[in-house]
Amino acid sequence: MGIDRVRWGIVATGNISTQFTQDLGLLPDDAVATAVASRSQDSADRFAAEFGIPNAYDDYRKLIDSGDVDVIYIGTPHPQHYAIARTALQASVAVLCEKPVTLTAKQARDLIAVATEHKTLFAEAMWMRTNPVIQAVFNDLASGVIGEPQQVVADFAFYKDSLPSRLLDPALGGGSLMDGGIYPMTFAYMALGRPAELKAVGSLNEDGVDLNVAMAWRYDSGAVAALTCGLRSQNPWVASISGPEGSLQLPHRFHHPEYYVRTTAAGAERIDVPTHGRGYHYEAGAVIDALRAGALEVPALPHAATLEILDLLDETRSQIGVRYPGDDDDLSG
Ligand SMILES: NC(=O)c1ccc[n+]([C@@H]2O[C@H](COP(=O)([O-])OP(=O)(O)OC[C@H]3O[C@@H](n4cnc5c(N)ncnc54)[C@H](OP(=O)(O)O)[C@@H]3O)[C@@H](O)[C@H]2O)c1
Repeated sequence: MGIDRVRWGIVATGNISTQFTQDLGLLPDDAVATAVASRSQDSADRFAAEFGIPNAYDDYRKLIDSGDVDVIYIGTPHPQHYAIARTALQASVAVLCEKPVTLTAKQARDLIAVATEHKTLFAEAMWMRTNPVIQAVFNDLASGVIGEPQQVVADFAFYKDSLPSRLLDPALGGGSLMDGGIYPMTFAYMALGRPAELKAVGSLNEDGVDLNVAMAWRYDSGAVAALTCGLRSQNPWVASISGPEGSLQLPHRFHHPEYYVRTTAAGAERIDVPTHGRGYHYEAGAVIDALRAGALEVPALPHAATLEILDLLDETRSQIGVRYPGDDDDLSG
């Protein structure tokens, strides 16, 4: 594609956009943030000043139409992802969109169809997949060091006195499942693939937002996964994959770890893998590589995984009774 430095447009100026843009700075020869858009000019200007971004817009659409960018990064709450990503893809602007990329699998299928039609790269920002420690764990698993995986256990739950309001707002896709549960689900999916059967239970608040969820997955191979997420407890926040010859264990905050532990008959060995930054530059780097290769999909962030995880999220939400505005149209598809 002949791109020297890939020009990024940052959509929204909240928590994750800030972290992502900080990490973009770790790729100085490959990436430059050339534009930012917010719902308010003040926020766009503040963000632009903080990161030295030359163009600031008070409307996401203006950024997409500006011609200033090769790819946009979408850091809005989940319900807004779909329309913004669709607008960009229709304008042939590549998209890296926060997880979950949409509220339903039907919406994600539509985005992938639009991306394909417009020959434009589209990827879900499931940054865990591009973390070097996670990649080392799955290389180890593939080498057969623990034998055929039989069990995956993973949890993603935390408690804060005061939560960001979007997490408790159904209109903003609130709840632990869509925000945190997607990580243990993705971890189990990377280890074992799509399950033959899933069962889920959840405790919801009076607004119908899930505060505690437990999931059990079963595979035709006989393997199982036990996964939890929540907003009410300080969990170990760890993950493991176990087989007849041993286990691979990830420590606290397993989705962006600095090491893992391999336990086999030879004993337990801590394996450190060099990482730097928060870790968002790894997904940005993977997008840049794919853009330079002229690819429509990022190998580490495959469309098939995005769709299958959203299918599983649809099914889990249906079992535990979490509904979002617009679901009636989309969950049936
Ligand atoms: N990969 C990760 O590690 C990670 C971590 C946290 C969150 N996330 C994902 O990132 C997304 C955003 O999370 P966040 O924690 O950054 O949220 P946040 O701090 O609330 O920021 C979201 C931003 O979206 C924009 N926005 C657009 N429409 C909005 C609306 N109706 N209500 C509120 N804000 C709106 C706002 O920016 P403007 O005012 O500038 O338009 C807001 O600052 C979620 O999909 C979440 O799942 C990912």
